[in-house]
Amino acid sequence: MIVAIDGPAGSGKGTVTKILADRLGLINLDTGATYRCVALMTLKNNYTLEDESKIVDLLPNIDIEFKRENGEEKVFLNGEDVTKEIRSKEVNKIVSQVSGITPVRIYMAELQRKMAKGKDVIMEGRDIGTYVFPNAEVKIYLDADVEERAKRRYKENLEKGVDMSYEEVLDNIKKRDENDKNKEIGALKVADGAIIVDTTSKTIEEVANEIENIIKLHSKKD
Ligand code: DC
Repeated sequence: MIVAIDGPAGSGKGTVTKILADRLGLINLDTGATYRCVALMTLKNNYTLEDESKIVDLLPNIDIEFKRENGEEKVFLNGEDVTKEIRSKEVNKIVSQVSGITPVRIYMAELQRKMAKGKDVIMEGRDIGTYVFPNAEVKIYLDADVEERAKRRYKENLEKGVDMSYEEVLDNIKKRDENDKNKEIGALKVADGAIIVDTTSKTIEEVANEIENIIKLHSKKD
């Protein structure tokens, strides 16, 4: 079974997906993390966004693994734990543009399909229900007001020790929204058949319960 959770930055996808994966025993695939790894490799090689073809050449040398260690989801890039590094300010700045490079999207979507093969997964991203798995059994589109999303991301950053002001976070999210909605392939939009869940004034627990019920209803239908 594939559960696709799409939506903009700060809509609550990450947290809700983790909760539901634990509750329902589904494998959690954070597709944003795969784009973050490409952005990190770009920085490590001292490439800029102008070096598109060099970034594309990096792809075959990028090995990404998600592992659960001591109850925590960790991301490994070529064997190195990059869980924290991929959330840095520097990566945040370029990741949306990196993920907008068409060959990067095609390659990553294929990698994500491979990672999910034969498994029961819950996948969060921007284009899971529209492009990566258009036939996903359950499709959810999470949304929230932009100020609310910026507040959440700012708080999350503080907890993780990422040094960014609220205004910087808000500006970053607005820019990312624009970029994510205007991608040539896999642009952020509501997928056919997706259920829209607005999380603005809901607690994460309420959102998780709502989606859990949708998934359970769907499972009963089969
Ligand atoms: O969800 P996130 O903030 O970790 O995602 C990082 C970036 O990757 C974000 O700018 C959108 C992009 N992304 C995407 O284009 N498609 C996905 N399936 C997941 C993320």
